[in-house]
Amino acid sequence: MKATTLSRIEGKLRPALLRVLPECWAVRLYSSGRKHFLKALANETVEDSFLPPKNLSRNLWGMEFQSPLMNAAGMFKNGECYEMSAFQGAGAYLGGSGTWDARSGNVKNCFRTPFIPYPKSGAASNFLGLPNDGDLRNAQRACEIERVPGCPIGWSVAASTSIHEGERLKRVVDGLKLYMDAGVDFGEGNRSCPNTEPGKPKPYDLEVERRDLRYISENLLKRRERKFPVVMKYSNDTPHEQIPALMDTLFELGFDGVNFGNTSIQYEVHRDKIHPHERQLYNYFSTMFGGGVSGRPLKETSLELAAGAAAYVRAGAPSQEFHVFRTGGIDSWKDIEDSEAAGISMNQWFTGYFENLAQDGHNVYRRLFEEAA
Ligand SMILES: Cc1cc2nc3c(=O)[nH]c(=O)nc-3n(C[C@H](O)[C@H](O)[C@H](O)COP(=O)(O)O)c2cc1C
Repeated sequence: MKATTLSRIEGKLRPALLRVLPECWAVRLYSSGRKHFLKALANETVEDSFLPPKNLSRNLWGMEFQSPLMNAAGMFKNGECYEMSAFQGAGAYLGGSGTWDARSGNVKNCFRTPFIPYPKSGAASNFLGLPNDGDLRNAQRACEIERVPGCPIGWSVAASTSIHEGERLKRVVDGLKLYMDAGVDFGEGNRSCPNTEPGKPKPYDLEVERRDLRYISENLLKRRERKFPVVMKYSNDTPHEQIPALMDTLFELGFDGVNFGNTSIQYEVHRDKIHPHERQLYNYFSTMFGGGVSGRPLKETSLELAAGAAAYVRAGAPSQEFHVFRTGGIDSWKDIEDSEAAGISMNQWFTGYFENLAQDGHNVYRRLFEEAA
């Protein structure tokens, strides 16, 4: 059976299934089911490819992005599904997050790479811990991807906590260089994974952030021999007051963009946005694993943070071309409209993509953009 057909059937059963299954079984089922599903999806081809209307395309850093929406990091960790994404109508493709070393991801209380969706809430929790095959292997894969016009390739790179602390940042730079040398079009630095440094508090320590960004700037940005824009991705938990300092540092050090943002660890804040039928499961997951909350609960914060960043760019225009990306809770055309009105250049989706895929199959971008007409 095709993965998209399976997803359609499972999508209909999911709310009921999650109501009757004991929490621990539900997590076990979805943690392993997610991986099998992605494997099956990677083997599918899009028969009826979709070219988004020309008026949705945009030019960022001299590259054409065929639409304002693309996948978020973590969906295609090892470079799967590029052609599928491009043919569905994605504005770009993002591989990773990759790490220098291959990682198998978190195991806690015998659960491997825990994940759970909350379909009635349009949300999910995950405690994956950056499983991926490592940057060397994935840069080779990136090298072999055949480009579809209008769908540039980006790669997200994260620091690996299994590497000695003193070497971590060097390996992030080494990883980004590998993807740059493999012909990838832009890089994304993941500064915000809540699943490898559990409970790491926000706000960011701006001194540490500045030190790390300076290292990346001196060892990568200033040594680029071709155009390779680098965007830094921060948490959706970033306090609004930190935007000016973060943006000033990114401008000054020659970064090309910012992305707000990654999953949230503010479990209490989001609890009210979880449907009452799914709250017990949410409490179970948050208590047992912690992890990051994604999906609809992040819709407002991602817009506020990204809109604040876009306003800051307009007010203080840096000398380099600088773009703001928005990630968190995007699942409808209205979200894209809100982003456009705020001057946000590009949107990424993860949780909403899979919710919509379950309804629309490979027409997932087509249906969303039809709402624009
Ligand atoms: C299962 C899962 C794995 C993820 N892995 C990554 C990752 O490897 N790197 C990263 O920067 N973000 C990762 N994220 C966060 C997403 O890229 C995105 O920032 C977050 O889910 C919010 O977007 P959404 O509300 O559209 O899901 C992951 C999210 C989920 C649900």
